Amino acid sequence: MTLQIKSYSEYKKVYKNSVDNPEKFWAAQARTFTWMKKWDEVVEWDFKKPDVKWFVGGKLNITENCLDRHLKRSGNKTALIWEPNDPSQPYKTYTYNELYEAVCQCANMLKANGIKKGDRVCFYMPMVPELTIGVLACARIGAVHSVVFAGFSATALADRIKDSECKMVICSDYNFRGGKIIPVKEVVDDALKQRCKSVETVIVHQNSGDKVKMKKNRDKWWHDEVPRRRKTCPAVEMDSEDMLFILYTSGSTGKPKGVVHTCGGYMVYTCFTFKNVFQYQKGDVYWCTADIGWITGHSYIIYGPLLAGATTMMFEGVPTYPDAGRFWHICEKHRVNQFYTAPTAIRALMAQGDKWPSHYDLSSIKTLGSVGEPINEEAWNWYNEKIGKGKAPIVDTWWQTETGGIMISPLPGLHKVKPCYAMLPMPGVQPCLVDADGKEIRKKEAEGLLCIKYPWPSMIRTTYGDHERCRQVYFSAFEDKYFTGDGARRDKQGMYRIIGRVDDVINVSGHRIGTAEVENAINEHPQVIESAVVGYPHDIKGQGIYAYVITEGEIADPVAFKKSVHEVVTKVIGPIAKPDKIQIVPGLPKTRSGKIMRRILRKVASGDMDNLGDVSTLLNPQIVDSIKSSKDEAV
Ligand code: PRX
Repeated sequence: MTLQIKSYSEYKKVYKNSVDNPEKFWAAQARTFTWMKKWDEVVEWDFKKPDVKWFVGGKLNITENCLDRHLKRSGNKTALIWEPNDPSQPYKTYTYNELYEAVCQCANMLKANGIKKGDRVCFYMPMVPELTIGVLACARIGAVHSVVFAGFSATALADRIKDSECKMVICSDYNFRGGKIIPVKEVVDDALKQRCKSVETVIVHQNSGDKVKMKKNRDKWWHDEVPRRRKTCPAVEMDSEDMLFILYTSGSTGKPKGVVHTCGGYMVYTCFTFKNVFQYQKGDVYWCTADIGWITGHSYIIYGPLLAGATTMMFEGVPTYPDAGRFWHICEKHRVNQFYTAPTAIRALMAQGDKWPSHYDLSSIKTLGSVGEPINEEAWNWYNEKIGKGKAPIVDTWWQTETGGIMISPLPGLHKVKPCYAMLPMPGVQPCLVDADGKEIRKKEAEGLLCIKYPWPSMIRTTYGDHERCRQVYFSAFEDKYFTGDGARRDKQGMYRIIGRVDDVINVSGHRIGTAEVENAINEHPQVIESAVVGYPHDIKGQGIYAYVITEGEIADPVAFKKSVHEVVTKVIGPIAKPDKIQIVPGLPKTRSGKIMRRILRKVASGDMDNLGDVSTLLNPQIVDSIKSSKDEAV
């Protein structure tokens, strides 16, 4: 069984061993899984290229470890609970046996429709069990899943389908979100009109049953295609380093990149961190509220929990439907033991008042988790007092799409937690702080750029189709280190606190958005000449999107203009990237080489107008005053 650390002193010992002898440590963890062939080498790595391989030569199938491995002893145990958007509708459960059969049927459907090992399959679906089933079915036959968050637009979906040349798209007809019903298949149809030549088949899961158009010879219903298949399907032998999935994420420049994760290391690491960070015990019900369209859903709704033989829950809806007590109602209803969510949700629910959690019995909760963005002290305290009743430790887990699994986190119940601190590196993780010159800061109490100086099993292997980009973005800033893009502080005890992104990435409600992407979208507006986007502090979302826009001609009605910008951004990216504030400006502060000085724009957006620093070196210093004085006109 995967090691579960039981005390702080054990953590210290395990951590030391994991750093002194990483290969021995990870080999011991890997041995607890089912391998079709044992690995020859534990790790081979070179951050310069980068080239990282874990459990080299090992053969496995991750679904054998998520499913088959549990059938003998826990086949009748609940693997998955699905809670629907509408609380008056029945919830669904799948035992490990049932999930196994469902996955095998879906895997056989994939094969019957020409999907082979290595082919890419795109998922564009709401939070329904078929998404989990489909993802695992891909892994079963060695197909590579690429899940696209169902809030992205047709254009964004098309970009992702094209980048990884997906052969199939699996979607739903519609998506229920609170009181709304949102078309899904229609978005896929629109995307596929945008030259997605690789797509041969679209499988449509019927969620609402409302009418959708089906294209002959391309579109097929899930209910016609899946249930008639055999309930067993051999697990395809995968190399440790074969691709398991691609997940697109935003960076500071260019289009979103497809982060590639591989089979062996990802399996070992997600299971290990799940068991330790949440201190999952047999019989517990674990609930992560993330969407499977993000890495948190991949690693800690699907893979980590199922690898550990846990009961994991998926929720289709939103935290405020039918009212702001929904999360707490679900916790009471399913006697949730570990609850994992994002600070944005905590802040939004906190703003609705204490009466909502007080209506429900939350006594089952043993551990609370936070992920995706820095948690502020007020939200931390509320979460601790009103949800955990001061008895459930909070794990503020820091990690990224690229890290595959949780990297820095408290271990609940094993030591005192410090509010807003992610605290301890997981065993095997070697973080460090680096100064602007790239020198590692040795002093314990320090602030700097967060890097990782030794590989860990679930780290990014490449960016799909563009390895050089992977090297450039993560491995070129500092020699022999993975650069996270985050700044962090370390206290006297060596505990880490994450400050946030130091690059041009904004974290809006825990969603990562590249400023360049939003600018490109805004620039498609016919009246926009140029734009610059920055983040600014936002009470609920953590960061909001602030856009400075140069327009062609006078804008008579800024509110109507904002609405039209929103429409363009929604069309190009999706509603999550809509600017919260738009300020029309006559020009943008630029350096003599023509680069936009975002530092100044960030300060103005956050209202910090007196400390703009030296602006005299700008090409157009006078523009700064003009931007400052028209700030109040932002809509
Ligand atoms: O800035 C950090 C922030 O989210 C970024 C990663 O975003 P993404 O790849 O979408 O993955 C989010 C879920 C793992 C990081 O670079 N972040 C993530 N967790 C935390 C955090 N910031 C502060 N505290 C955290 N616990």
